[in-house]
Amino acid sequence: MKAFCHGEINEFIEWHDTDGNIINASDGGIIYVEGTYHWYGMALRPLPVNCGPYGGQMTTVGVVMYKSKDLLNWKYEGVILEVTNDPESELFAPLRFERPKIIYNDKTKKFVLWCHYVKYPANHGNGVGEADLGVAVCDTINGKYKWLGFSRPIDNYGWVRDMTVYKDINNDAYVIYDRHTPDPKLGDKTGGLQGDRCLYVVKLSDDYLSFTNTYKRIDTAPWREAPAIAYKNGYYYIITSGLTGWETNQAKAFRTKSLLEDWEDIGDPCVDDYTNTTFNTQGTNVFCVEETELQIMMLERHNTACFEKSSYVWLPIRFNDDNTISLHYTKNWRLSDFL
Ligand code: GAL
Repeated sequence: MKAFCHGEINEFIEWHDTDGNIINASDGGIIYVEGTYHWYGMALRPLPVNCGPYGGQMTTVGVVMYKSKDLLNWKYEGVILEVTNDPESELFAPLRFERPKIIYNDKTKKFVLWCHYVKYPANHGNGVGEADLGVAVCDTINGKYKWLGFSRPIDNYGWVRDMTVYKDINNDAYVIYDRHTPDPKLGDKTGGLQGDRCLYVVKLSDDYLSFTNTYKRIDTAPWREAPAIAYKNGYYYIITSGLTGWETNQAKAFRTKSLLEDWEDIGDPCVDDYTNTTFNTQGTNVFCVEETELQIMMLERHNTACFEKSSYVWLPIRFNDDNTISLHYTKNWRLSDFL
């Protein structure tokens, strides 16, 4: 690949690794370690015939990783968090490791991977292991991650949906997640559009392996998901989507000077997005390009007919003088356009 290519907003463009295979790393992120970018995500595989009522994305492989020096040529590094074929195991496939995110803990010297875990048979539900956060650790960025289990932040009452993890400049880390608490009258029978649903920020413990009791409900962000975080000039930004499953919808961003304080709704960052669909994508993650000011928003164009052929759309974030942010769609772009 010579440039980041996205095509028209209704096109699915394939990105290939250095072996010529389609890059299959859904909803993940990029972490820079000792001169190399590592891109990881859930490897999507075709749906089993009996995949249940919800369908959608799941894995029979695990979380995979690719590496690159230039963000364009990606070499496959293999599976870093593997599923098993043991029906007794929490990792029995198909399952979901949705929206996996890796951060490095400078004190313990471990890489910590969090994800939205949905156990076999990978249907979003409300029961134990159907709406949880999973965590795994590794001594090296691209080794085999050890699964430590799953749990829920705050209390067992709030179901976990989309999430991300963020490490700030003080090395404090947070999980940001879409928490759904049932309507008390309906209890566990609550459907997708009842009860209380809102983004929350929860501080992680010093080793990043568990939750603390310090958290904030982002009152301005009810019924939002797919959170991705950027930081610039003293402001944190969350870019989110609405809740329409695999159908794309209009993005909305929020900003704050402190992750655990109030967040201000600053509207849709997408410029000239005439279809109000985040350019027919949904956000995944933001990463920084080393030794530059550039921050890139990773988005995905879901291909519901064939999930492993979904497309990646990476757009530079523009940080405006009034401390708002913008995303502009381009069919092709190069890093040199922005440096
Ligand atoms: C999307 C969400 C994805 C996944 C999907 C499942 O709205 O952003 O992460 O959970 O729904 O239906």
